[in-house]
Amino acid sequence: MAVVRFAHITDLHGTDPGRWPLPWLVSKRLLGYLSWRRRRRHEHRPEILAALVAALRDLDDEVILVTGDLCQIGLPVEFRAARRLLEELGPPERVLLVPGNHDSYGPAPLAETYALWADYLGGLKAGSPGPRVDRRDGVVFLGLDSALPTAPFLATGRLGRAQLEALDRELAALAGDPALRVLYLHHPPDPGAVGRRKALVDDAELMRLLATRGVDLVLHGHDHRPRRDLLDLGGRRIPVLSLASGSARGSKSVARRAAIHRHRISPSPVGWTLELEVLRHDPGTGRFVPVEEASLAIPGRG
Ligand SMILES: [Fe+2]
Ligand SMILES: [Fe+2]
Repeated sequence: MAVVRFAHITDLHGTDPGRWPLPWLVSKRLLGYLSWRRRRRHEHRPEILAALVAALRDLDDEVILVTGDLCQIGLPVEFRAARRLLEELGPPERVLLVPGNHDSYGPAPLAETYALWADYLGGLKAGSPGPRVDRRDGVVFLGLDSALPTAPFLATGRLGRAQLEALDRELAALAGDPALRVLYLHHPPDPGAVGRRKALVDDAELMRLLATRGVDLVLHGHDHRPRRDLLDLGGRRIPVLSLASGSARGSKSVARRAAIHRHRISPSPVGWTLELEVLRHDPGTGRFVPVEEASLAIPGRG
């Protein structure tokens, strides 16, 4: 197997819904808009996002995985701006996107929202329940769609039966295939990772499926903080990783400052070795700089 390289960024929250975009501001969107005006627009900064794009352009990683939440309240004007951002990051062959709950914040015409990202979503939100499956040399990226509009004060996600069944079929078809399986989605996959108000409602079903079929690495977003845990898949413990929002100042803590994860995965005698490099936004220079390297073991599927 060749060495597999890719980057992971999440929760870019880089779009501006505009000044009082009536008549969009009904129910949940009004609350989301007020929260953005009051608080979130001071935390998620366009200049940090510009530095993120510049940093990724300097990297030679083959693929950039983006785990959703490009928007604030999922308005057409935001989808248009996020489309430009995606193009700055790279072509759809390089930038693999799954949606987040702030992209599916409320009802909106498909043609003015997700259809604008269609090539970056690889079939998600276009009739296919997911997963999206993208094969590169030695690796299969499996992207899940967990984003759907929810009631006010909820940030839950759902995969749905059709997507879980399709994922089961995809993984069954990969049996015996030595390619590394990287699963990525917006919401954390495991029960208890976040409160139920923010959780994936069918996380237990997903975990059962993954324990049966096996994946090698899980990446997610949504919680805006770094995470490096082990996920127990039927006794086999694989890494589950997340990171801070790609546009965050980190006003609450340095750990929540905007970050990029770079992954380099190579075969080892017992499976794979994941070398993780963390780049973080440095407010002094305005650039993303390496702050940490870690080596993680991924056990073979035996
Ligand atoms: Fe987010
Ligand atoms: Fe989210």
